[in-house]
Amino acid sequence: MSNLLPPGFPATLEWTSDGLRLLDQTLLPAEETYITVSGTAALIDAIQRLVVRGAPALGCAGGYGVVLAFREAFARSPKKWQPEFKRLSEKLADARPTAVNLRWAVERCCRKLTAALAKKPGSAVEKALLAEAVAIHEEDREMCDRIGQFGAALLPAGRVTVMTHCNAGALATGGSGTALAVLYAAHATGTRLSVFCDETRPLLQGARLTSWELTRAGIAATVICDSMAAMVMRTRRVDACIVGADRIAANGDTANKIGTCGLAILARHHGVPFYVAAPSSTFDLTLPNGTDIPIEERNRNEIAKPGDRLMVPDLAKVYNPAFDVTSADLITAIVTERGILRPPYPESIVRELANEAD
Ligand code: MRU
Repeated sequence: MSNLLPPGFPATLEWTSDGLRLLDQTLLPAEETYITVSGTAALIDAIQRLVVRGAPALGCAGGYGVVLAFREAFARSPKKWQPEFKRLSEKLADARPTAVNLRWAVERCCRKLTAALAKKPGSAVEKALLAEAVAIHEEDREMCDRIGQFGAALLPAGRVTVMTHCNAGALATGGSGTALAVLYAAHATGTRLSVFCDETRPLLQGARLTSWELTRAGIAATVICDSMAAMVMRTRRVDACIVGADRIAANGDTANKIGTCGLAILARHHGVPFYVAAPSSTFDLTLPNGTDIPIEERNRNEIAKPGDRLMVPDLAKVYNPAFDVTSADLITAIVTERGILRPPYPESIVRELANEAD
């Protein structure tokens, strides 16, 4: 547990002897309920329903998911488990396409498996695989706190008003968060924060999750509808916008929850600095820019029938992209666990991250 979070803050995900225990984020803030997944299909279902969500948390879940995939494939066929393992781990890596952390963690664990198999038989590699998943989780925890410390230095002292979008907090990571870790770190050093949380249509991660997290930590949170952000920036002092990221291309173009790009444009118009906070596992240096970032499209009913109540007539089409891409020129700085990256990003990103092996 990070010391940026209040004592007793629930764990987003936790490995247990029965499998991976997940805080069910679909039920927050009304209920704090946990589910334990012990197979790949159940984990993929939990990932796709957003029981566990947020790019770094998806990475952590993906690491543990590879352990589940190995167990399952090996139990089915101790001699010929490899094709089934490959099928399950591919399916897991594809469960959500935009957050690169998921595929990154699955591939890292698969490389670990290959290395372990060179020395040990199949029956003996699960331990090495689990150790790799735990390492991903622990590294994520540390990266979050470092992001928090670096990012807090970007905020002015005293009373500070921040706007954020979606949930880039402890719930979205294996630690204290990315964008919200910055706020937790600033809060810990006495900054008096007031945070506008965009509700984040259609699944309301800002309204349900971010305001829940922040108020639990004693930080003042005000939920606004996404469409109110311009009004707030125009009529109140907003010192900074800070958001997380699902995938950052080599030039700094950033995919994040749908609505982020609009917020960045509003911030530029109103002269508000726009910060992105993300660990190095969220960068995808194979993509020169954001054009080829895959954007997940989700079910029409998230918009047409929220809470099972019909809001859109059946004859009307619905378009539901879950993410958008903010172009790098709208981003004032990117906060990583290595430090603060500034434009020109093609240079600062390569300087800080190109040597990243995993
Ligand atoms: O669809 P979600 O809830 O998984 O989307 C999450 C986001 O867009 C977050 O802002 C992003 O993953 C960064 S989390 C630290």
